[in-house]
Amino acid sequence: MEQQEWAQVVGAATRAPSIHNTQPWRFTATTDQLDVFLDPARALPVLDPTGRQQVISCGIAVEFAVVAFAAAGWLSEVELLPDDDGDHLGTLRLIGRIEATEEDRALASAIEQRHTVRDPFQPRDVPSALLDRLQAEAGAFGVWFKPVTRSEEEVATVFLVDRAEEMEQQDPAYLAELQSWLRTDPAAVDGVPVEAVPSADPHQRPSNWTIRDFVVGTREHGGTGRTADPDAPPPDVERPTVVLVGSDGDDRYAWLQAGRALGRMLLLATSAGVAASPLTQALDWPATRTRLRSRLSLVGHPQMLLRMGYPQEGAVIASSGRRPVAEVLAPAPAG
Ligand SMILES: Cc1cc2nc3c(=O)[nH]c(=O)nc-3n(C[C@H](O)[C@H](O)[C@H](O)COP(=O)(O)O)c2cc1C
Repeated sequence: MEQQEWAQVVGAATRAPSIHNTQPWRFTATTDQLDVFLDPARALPVLDPTGRQQVISCGIAVEFAVVAFAAAGWLSEVELLPDDDGDHLGTLRLIGRIEATEEDRALASAIEQRHTVRDPFQPRDVPSALLDRLQAEAGAFGVWFKPVTRSEEEVATVFLVDRAEEMEQQDPAYLAELQSWLRTDPAAVDGVPVEAVPSADPHQRPSNWTIRDFVVGTREHGGTGRTADPDAPPPDVERPTVVLVGSDGDDRYAWLQAGRALGRMLLLATSAGVAASPLTQALDWPATRTRLRSRLSLVGHPQMLLRMGYPQEGAVIASSGRRPVAEVLAPAPAG
């Protein structure tokens, strides 16, 4: 593959969503092989001490690269954890030329169109045919996909997300780490831009789901009321589709597979006009993650909680920065 094509594929891979937009990856390339590594220098020791969410993020990047290869007419083969170096997460080998299908091209253009959308969605259900398709895609990676639909499951999950968010807001180390990944400069190449996160208190939002609060230290927490003015008519409460994605195992291999499944799901959803935002607070902490497993009688390990829906018409969706390809891609060392 030519130098310029590599830059395009790696550029597509780096469009992957990542926890706090840490982009915890680096790549090396030869003529017919791309290798993906976890970059420990970009770790989140408080939020993600095992690296689970960062490895999931890298799994998404692996799948975005597979999609970009296919759109460029290359069939690739993925080997996860190819050697004893635990940070060497995957090898993608080009194994032949293919004719890109319409779906390959649609998924590749969804890479550019996809953004995490945290604003309330339209009151419109995500079609069950799309959810069935996402479930089938996840299954192909050995990953399970479970819409949270039964009311007692929803109540338990909402409670645990709230509980985890409250714990996080009381944890100075968590807040300091979050703050270090918030960006006010629109030209920032990593981290979460302030324009991409709602500035209002998530507890006041007309939704039963508490999104992660990225505004550090400027307001009182712990309010339970969802409306600011008690005399105001109740706003329409957002009822997004929420899905849990998980795996039987809970090691790097399982995290990478969960990431790959998520990558494909997010692109399929985007190409159908459906946006998503992760709500991973309850999965951040062993205590709430374990309780989620038992309250929902999950077989295996939840890896991602995703809120999905249609963005409001005409909504301006902020995009977050990415490090330039030259910063993350190096030629493979000789030998
Ligand atoms: C494993 C993982 C966990 C995430 N958790 C959250 C979360 O709890 N709340 C949230 O608002 N965004 C979450 N995100 C979204 C990231 O903040 C987002 O992907 C990143 O800022 C880049 O923005 P983009 O997705 O719009 O490209 C998560 C992303 C990943 C991959």
